Amino acid sequence: MGDLEQLFGLKDQVALVTGASSGLGSEAARALAKAGANVGLVARRKQRLDALAAELVQRGVRCCVAPADVTRSEELKQALDRVEAELGPVQILVNGSGIAPLGRAENHSREKWDAALAVNLTAAFELSQLVGQRMIERGGGGRIIQISSLSGQFGSPVHRLVAYAASKGGLNSLTRQLAVEWAKHGITVNALAPFYFPTEMTIDPSLGEVAPEQRERMELFTPMGRLGRPGELESALLFLAAPASSYVTGVILPVDGGSGAW
Ligand SMILES: NC(=O)c1ccc[n+]([C@@H]2O[C@H](COP(=O)([O-])OP(=O)(O)OC[C@H]3O[C@@H](n4cnc5c(N)ncnc54)[C@H](OP(=O)(O)O)[C@@H]3O)[C@@H](O)[C@H]2O)c1
Repeated sequence: MGDLEQLFGLKDQVALVTGASSGLGSEAARALAKAGANVGLVARRKQRLDALAAELVQRGVRCCVAPADVTRSEELKQALDRVEAELGPVQILVNGSGIAPLGRAENHSREKWDAALAVNLTAAFELSQLVGQRMIERGGGGRIIQISSLSGQFGSPVHRLVAYAASKGGLNSLTRQLAVEWAKHGITVNALAPFYFPTEMTIDPSLGEVAPEQRERMELFTPMGRLGRPGELESALLFLAAPASSYVTGVILPVDGGSGAW
């Protein structure tokens, strides 16, 4: 085994990724498969998951498609059971599902608030807890990675997304608390905090890309003067998932072109 593979290789490890049907979740699943992990794919749109699984198995890894609405506890548990039955015990969990309802704070509806909290925070807690319980019981440690957001740390100068921001702030606190409680079990718990990447969440569906005025404003708030590119979350994710990052826990790692440095 080469030195780099020893540091960053994930051959034969089992990962579960939520939000794998789109955007940064699929990027996370691709990255883990590149490093050799077998990957369980969770989201609601099964066809998307099937297509991704077909792509990933070409790399010689195994995949398990486990469709679920992550806001439904029973479906979440069934998805985890299915992935473990097909691939083996989950050693790496990536909570990537997310929604970002927009609207001014003064008029933000309770429905938007509840929906954002349910997907972005409660589901991440429930799945982390389920996976954490099993990791503790099995005794082999593990990696839990939350896909948070820079909005968890800073108010957005561009978007009105109070429920989203609150959910991501909660996710960051969840990350730190789990990191502290589970450190003695060898389970690291970290979060990625991306700024702005073109995905279904951020593009204008009628244009098929981020609306030009939106792009311009986001670029203004980014020292690098550009949005995130496909693949730019991968290296940070693989670092947190890697055997080599065993002494890194409770970190909220920005992947943001320097936006959080301002
Ligand atoms: N794009 C950015 O600029 C950016 C920046 C910071 C943070 N993030 C975070 O990155 C993560 C991924 O977002 P993205 O940008 O990749 O957005 P996206 O392309 O819209 O993907 C969102 C994912 O969440 C899944 N999801 C939503 N509701 C769900 C539910 N109830 N049950 C199961 N899965 C659900 C969707 O799958 P289904 O619809 O198939 O269920 C989809 O796979 C999110 O947590 C987001 O907050 C994104």
